[in-house]
Amino acid sequence: MRMSDVLRQLRAQRTTDDARPRLMERYAAFLPLTPATPNLSLGEGFTPLIHARNLGRLLGLPLLYLKVEGVNPTGSFKDRGMVLAVAKALEDGARAIICASTGNTAASAAAYGAATGLEVIVVIPQGQIATGKLLQAQMAGARVVGVDGNFDAALQAVRYLVDDARDSERRVALVNSVNPHRLAGQKTAAFEVCEDLGGAPDYLAIPVGNAGNISAYWQGFTDYRDAGMVETRPVMLGFQAAGAAPLVLGAPVGDPHTVATAIRIGNPASADKAIRARDESGGAIEAVTDDEILAAYRDLARLEGIFCEPASAASLAGIRKLAADSRIDPGATIVCVLTGHGLKDPDTAMRNVAPTLTAAADAGAIRDVLDW
Ligand code: F0G
Repeated sequence: MRMSDVLRQLRAQRTTDDARPRLMERYAAFLPLTPATPNLSLGEGFTPLIHARNLGRLLGLPLLYLKVEGVNPTGSFKDRGMVLAVAKALEDGARAIICASTGNTAASAAAYGAATGLEVIVVIPQGQIATGKLLQAQMAGARVVGVDGNFDAALQAVRYLVDDARDSERRVALVNSVNPHRLAGQKTAAFEVCEDLGGAPDYLAIPVGNAGNISAYWQGFTDYRDAGMVETRPVMLGFQAAGAAPLVLGAPVGDPHTVATAIRIGNPASADKAIRARDESGGAIEAVTDDEILAAYRDLARLEGIFCEPASAASLAGIRKLAADSRIDPGATIVCVLTGHGLKDPDTAMRNVAPTLTAAADAGAIRDVLDW
C-alpha cells in the first residue's frame, strides 16, 4: 500500500478508539441493553485469535488456533461479562457489587467497580488465590475477605448475603457468573471466533471451573447460528482440573486441589447449562491432570510465545490428550480458549523455569556463560 493510502485509511478511522469498537456497542443487538444502560468500557474484548503453527505441527493439528483472552483489560475473559454485569447493576441502582472468586472475577469486579465508583466486596478462599489476582483486586480498592473454605463455600455464603440484602437499603449486585448478564457478555467471544475464522470452528476447547464460560460460548455460537451469521456450531470440549473435578460434572467433591487454582471448583454453579452444551454439541467434559496442564502451559509459552495462567492451559492439555487418543479429526479447525494471563500467577511460573544465568558485565563473560 502507498504511504498516502495508509494515511488516508488512518484518517478515515480518525482515532484508535474508532479502530477498536466498544464491545457492548458492536454486539448490542445480541445483548440485553436499554437506553438507560451506561456505555461502559475499559477496552474489553476483540482479543487475538492466533494460528498456533508450531504447536499444531507438534500435535499434528495444522488448524489449531488460540483465543488469547489474557489481553483483556484485567488479563482475563471475565471482563467481557463484567462490563455488562456492572453496567446493568448501575442501571438497576446498585451501590455495591459482590462476588466469590478464585481470583479473576475478583480482579475484574474490582476494576469495573473502581471505574464506576461502586463499592466492591470480594470473598476468596484464604491463601488459595494467585498473587497477581489478589493484588489487582487490592490495588483497585476492593474490600477483600478471605474465608476458611473453598470457592464453593465462598459462593454459597455470598449468595445468602445477597438474598438477605435484597429488601434492605443495601442494594448489592451479585456479579458471579450466576448473574445472567455475565454470561451474555462472555458469549461475545464466540462471535469474535466466528468472525475471525469466517465460520464456526469444528471444535472449541475450554477450561471449566464454575462452568459459566462454556455455557456462554455455546449460547454465543447458538445466537450467531440462529441469526444466520454462521451455519454450524462447534463440538464443545470442556476440561476440568483432575484434582478439582468430579469426573461427572456437578457431583460435589471435598476440598479440591490443583495447580490450576482458577478452576479449583468442586460443584460448578452452571453445571446444567454446561451439560446441555456438551450434549447438544456432541462434545465432552473431561479432566486433565496437573502434569498435563503444566506441560501445555510451558509449551504455549515456549512454542507460541503465549504466556497464559495454568488454568487456561487446561484447554490445550485436553486437546493434546484427545489427539493422542485419536479422538479428534486432525484436519479439523480447533480453537483453544486461553482464559487468563500468565503474569497473574508468578509463583507457578517461578516453579517452571530454569534459574537465570549470571555473568560479569562484559561481552566476553556473557558469551562464556551462554556458551556462544
Ligand atoms: N479460566 C480462568 C483463568 C478462570 O479464572 C476461570 C474461572 C475459568 C477458566 C473457568 O471459567 O468458571 O466460567 O467455568 N474463574 C472464576 C473466578 C471462578 O472466580 O475468577 P468458568
